[in-house]
Amino acid sequence: MRKPLVMGNWKLNGTKESVTSLVNALKEPAAQAPSVEVAVCAPAIFIGLVESLAKDTAIKYGSEDVDVHTKGAFTGENSPEMIKEFGCKYAIVGHSERRAYHNETNEVVAAKYKAAQESGLIPVLCIGESLEQFEAQQTAEVVKTQLKAVIDMNGIKSFENAVIAYEPIWAIGTGKTATPEIAQDVHATIRAYLASFDAETAEKVQILYGGSCNAKTAPDLFKQPDIDGGLVGGASLKPLDFAAIIKAAEV
Ligand code: PGA
Repeated sequence: MRKPLVMGNWKLNGTKESVTSLVNALKEPAAQAPSVEVAVCAPAIFIGLVESLAKDTAIKYGSEDVDVHTKGAFTGENSPEMIKEFGCKYAIVGHSERRAYHNETNEVVAAKYKAAQESGLIPVLCIGESLEQFEAQQTAEVVKTQLKAVIDMNGIKSFENAVIAYEPIWAIGTGKTATPEIAQDVHATIRAYLASFDAETAEKVQILYGGSCNAKTAPDLFKQPDIDGGLVGGASLKPLDFAAIIKAAEV
């Protein structure tokens, strides 16, 4: 049985004040849903604040990205060790915004996944197709290629210690959520592809849906057999909406 995971991705948002009130507002919904793992991924500069706010609560947290290097002359980066030192459990890798705006290739993403795991972080590997690829019915091919790069570098067993987030790019921040049927179909494709390497690992890995996942769309998405929770952007900044999404994931 896979534990549902509801993870917020705050992106480039927040102030000390808003982060404080958001985390405080999530304490109770997280505590009241013990069957769900609740996590927030914060901009690196706020992780220390989240650490102090989330102490002794049911809220786990992570970074939105991680560097491949452990230390050295890489101005502006945050190493996996630094992120781990501040109590993070997770590190998002390969978000489509990083792939698009920072030219992160499948190989770079696989290296970040590796670096995160080596430091004891759980990578949350984001994969998903563009609108053009969706319309050309290339979704399965795209997600398999994205997964293959990680498998080639890290092996299939590495997914025992990772989370996958399927995020169709056309659904991110657009209000156009994939229908539960479309999402389930891709999630099943992802799991079947992993199972072609190792059935046991495929069965265990949590596959989250992301892309305009909100209080309205989450309940039907989470009913799908291969959807194990959500990676939530916009709605994760609104405590009541995020609390409703957590509730929708309860089993
Ligand atoms: P969204 O973003 O929920 O605002 O669509 C999701 C994500 O990019 O992780």
